[in-house]
Amino acid sequence: MGSLLAKLEGLRDEAFSALESVQTSSDVEKFRVKYLGRKGLITSLLRELPSVPLEERPKLGAAANKLKTELDEVVRRKLEALKSGLKSGDFIDLTLPGRSRYLGKKHPITRTIEDIIDIFRSLGFSIAEGPDVETDYYNFDALNTPDDHPARDINDTFYLAKGICLRTHTSPVQIRVMEKQKPPVRIIAPGRCYRKDTPDASHSPNFFQTEGLYVDKGVTFGDLKGVINNFARRMFGSGIKVRFRPHFFPFTEPSAEYDFSCMICGGKGCRTCKNTGWVEISGAGMVDPAVFGYVGYDPLMYSGYAFGMGVDRITMLRYGINDIRYLYDNDLRVLGGL
Ligand code: PHE
Repeated sequence: MGSLLAKLEGLRDEAFSALESVQTSSDVEKFRVKYLGRKGLITSLLRELPSVPLEERPKLGAAANKLKTELDEVVRRKLEALKSGLKSGDFIDLTLPGRSRYLGKKHPITRTIEDIIDIFRSLGFSIAEGPDVETDYYNFDALNTPDDHPARDINDTFYLAKGICLRTHTSPVQIRVMEKQKPPVRIIAPGRCYRKDTPDASHSPNFFQTEGLYVDKGVTFGDLKGVINNFARRMFGSGIKVRFRPHFFPFTEPSAEYDFSCMICGGKGCRTCKNTGWVEISGAGMVDPAVFGYVGYDPLMYSGYAFGMGVDRITMLRYGINDIRYLYDNDLRVLGGL
């Protein structure tokens, strides 16, 4: 009897090692016939049962049945796995990283605007907004822009109807804020602007600006330079230089354009700065007393500065992009890498 039990155990080991090479459904069938079939190995082993003493037969029978059930279950599972599409050689590697889904992220312009907002908010500025569709009054008239100013030309400005246009800058928000609020006023106004420019590496018919306005008693051009310098350092680091050049805007007097030293080449001169070492950011100046006249502020009591800020330029400098169109083509191969 001892030897029959040992044979049964040997059979079990043999069956389980044979299982490793069972791969197709016909392998499974062969396996089943070999071990569990009517003329299979388990049955033929049981044929030797009469040679075993009577009282030991039940124990042997139970062991043989247990093995049968076990192998039945193995066969059933193998067939199921084959049906579910796992082919021979397939195995599940639990250590493989999962399949990642494409994760969206903020557009570089949005990120720049958020950083601009953070910096100015920490300096005590609040955020204002105005509409993209403006009236001539806010976009030009109240900004002291004469009727014959070239910016009003239909070749430069998108008109939706007579007297209604897509704003060409964020400066109309200055007027909207001052109409509603008495000084002190300290706001920035980020937003989209539109001009009839033919797209090229540095022009896009829609682009972004952030307006700045500070009106209070005793505000000076020195305050303006201070705030722009502070912004430049916090945005680009302490190595950045700022310069102001005399300019003209109808709504500021005196007016200036301001540049940042080119952070692509460190001011040495490159394609982005057209070999000048400087990149124009926008215009700025002291609010023209005529503008205060439109909003009912007393120019003898108050003074203020205003500035624009080319958000696209700043974004291009931060990410080293030399063509503004990349920002608007929505090519994920570009935007995904920024
Ligand atoms: N609005 C001007 C522009 O778009 C920039 C500017 C803003 C100039 C504020 C002076 C003051 O070019």
